[in-house]
Amino acid sequence: MNQYYDFDRCLDRAHTNSVKHDRYADSGILPMWVADMDFSVAPEITGAIKSRLDHDVYGYTHVPESLNALIVERMQRLYQWSIKPEWLVWVPGVVAAVNIACRSIGDSTTQTLSPAVVYPHIPEAPELNNRCLERVPMTSRWQRWVMDNKWLAGRGDVNDKILLLCNPHNPGGGVYRCDELSEIADMAIEKDWVVVSDEVHCDLILDPDKKHIPIASLNSAIEQRSITLMAASKTFNLAGLGCSFAIIPNQQLRQNFRRAAKGIISHVNLFGYISTQAAYQHGDEWHRQLLDYLRINRDYLIREINQIRGLKLDPIEATYLAWIDVSELGLDNPSVFFEQAGVGMSPGRDFGDNGFMRLNFGCSLATLKEAVSRMRNAVNQYWINKNV
Ligand SMILES: Cc1ncc(COP(=O)(O)O)c(C=O)c1O
Repeated sequence: MNQYYDFDRCLDRAHTNSVKHDRYADSGILPMWVADMDFSVAPEITGAIKSRLDHDVYGYTHVPESLNALIVERMQRLYQWSIKPEWLVWVPGVVAAVNIACRSIGDSTTQTLSPAVVYPHIPEAPELNNRCLERVPMTSRWQRWVMDNKWLAGRGDVNDKILLLCNPHNPGGGVYRCDELSEIADMAIEKDWVVVSDEVHCDLILDPDKKHIPIASLNSAIEQRSITLMAASKTFNLAGLGCSFAIIPNQQLRQNFRRAAKGIISHVNLFGYISTQAAYQHGDEWHRQLLDYLRINRDYLIREINQIRGLKLDPIEATYLAWIDVSELGLDNPSVFFEQAGVGMSPGRDFGDNGFMRLNFGCSLATLKEAVSRMRNAVNQYWINKNV
C-alpha cells in the first residue's frame, strides 16, 4: 500500500527566517504571496539530507553522475526528449540562470523579447545584464494567458536575439500547447532567436489532459537554439536549497553560458544536489498526492472566487498560483485592500497588470478557506460602502 502524506498538516514557520511568512509576522495577515508552499517536504528528501548530514564534512561538491543520469532518464521518460549528460549545467537558481543566459547572448544592442505579464525576474534580467527589453503582448486563448504569437510573427528587428518563455506560465498557470510551441520554435529558427525557456513549474500540471512539452524537445533545430531551465524546487518545496539546472544542447551556447557565470555564480549547494536527487528518485508518490491536493484547492478557489462580486478567476491548468482579476473593483492599490482584509497576495502590478492579484494556494485547504472568507467579507463590505 502507498504511504499517505498529510498535506492538511502544515508546520508553523515562525522564527525560521521564512521570506514568505516573515513579511506578515505577527500581523495576522495570511501570507499567500511568494511561490513556496506551506507543506513539509517529502520525508524521503528529509531522510536523504539527514543521512548526508551525518557525514560531518560539507566540502566543495560536484554534481553526482547519478543525478545527471537521472535527469537524462527523466527527460526521456516524461517528454521523450533524448538529452546528453554533458548538456546539463547546474546553477543555484533559475533566476540566476535567466540572468546568465541574457548576459551570455549578444551585446548591449541585443533585443530581448519577454512576455508582457510574467514573473517579474524574467523581464528584469535583460535590463540587469545590459540588454534591451521588448515586451510581448499577452493574449487570452481558451481562457489562458499566453504570448501573442501573431505579434511575434510580425517582428522583423535584426537585434531581436533572445526570446524569454515561461511555460507553464506564471502567473495563471497556462500550459502552452504543442501547436503554439511549434509556431514559436519555427519563428525562432527563421528569425535567429535563442529561446530561454523557464520551465520551473513543469511538474505542476494540474489538468490530467494537459501535458508539459519542453520547447527544445520539438526538433533538433530548436533544440540547438534553446536554453531550458528546470528545478525540483517549486514542486518539492526546496527553494531554500538553491539548486536548478540548465539544459543547453548547443556547445557554443553552453560554453558562453558557463563563461558568463564564471566567478559570479557560486557552486550549487551540496544539499541542493542531495534533495533534488531524492525528489526525482523517491518523490513520485508524494508528488502524485501533492497534485491531488492542489487540485482540490484549485477547484475550491475557482468556484468560490467566481461567486464573489467583482472577482474573476480563469481555469488554472498548472502551478499553485492563481491569477485573480480584481479590476472590476476599480481599486488604486488592490494589494493594500486585501492586506487590510488579512490576505497577503502578490500585487499584479509587479507582474505587469495592476488589475490582478496573484494568490498562492500551496497551503492547507483550511488556510485557503480562511483566506477566501476574508476576501469575500472585504469585497462584500466594499460594495456596501460604495452603495451600489
Ligand atoms: C517562473 C519562475 N522562475 C523562477 C523562479 C525562481 O526560481 P529560483 O528560486 O530557482 O531562482 C520562480 C519562482 O517563483 C518562478 O515562478
